[in-house]
Amino acid sequence: MGRTAFPSLTLMVLLLSWTCYAEEDEETLSCPEYQEGFDGSCYEFVDQQRSFLNAQGWCERGGGHLAFILNDETQQFLQKHLEPERDWWLGLAPAAPNLTLESAATEGERQSSLAWLDGSDVSYSNWVNMPDAQEVCGYVLRHSGFQWEATVNCSQELNFICQFGTNS
Ligand SMILES: *[C@@H]1O[C@H](CO)[C@@H](O)[C@H](O)[C@H]1NC(C)=O
Ligand SMILES: *[C@@H]1O[C@H](CO)[C@@H](O)[C@H](O)[C@H]1NC(C)=O
Repeated sequence: MGRTAFPSLTLMVLLLSWTCYAEEDEETLSCPEYQEGFDGSCYEFVDQQRSFLNAQGWCERGGGHLAFILNDETQQFLQKHLEPERDWWLGLAPAAPNLTLESAATEGERQSSLAWLDGSDVSYSNWVNMPDAQEVCGYVLRHSGFQWEATVNCSQELNFICQFGTNS
């Protein structure tokens, strides 16, 4: 009897854990406690200062990217968690399809408009000043009411926001 009860118990436990996993997956995304969830993504406000490329690399290693702000709701959500006296890199870089991040960081003279790192247009924006062609890396500017600025100097070491778990 023990011989038959044991395998079916194991199967039941397996089924139960599979069911729990599937339910969790279907419901709203649950974020680790050091991240904040909003609209299907988890955001991490990273308490480290890195260059634009290193910051993006850090986010990528966790399976994410520097945060995109595609609408005012996301802006409002993020700014509740940002410290106003710091600068925060966003996933904003030149739109030119051929331009790699690396050349973006060095080729200031190239004519380009900014786009989100997945190529999305910046249709919602919150600039302090419209960036000119030399300004290639975007961030949330400190003491600006969380408005955005772009800079020629992508090697500055700023805090940054990572976004995880998007469908992009
Ligand atoms: C993109 O890069 C390829 C190969 O480096 C080049 O042949 C092409 O002209 C480039 N396109 C643009 C739009 O710069
Ligand atoms: C860019 O920022 C880095 C780090 O703050 C600094 O060392 C460097 O001099 C800056 N470069 C320019 C061109 O301003």
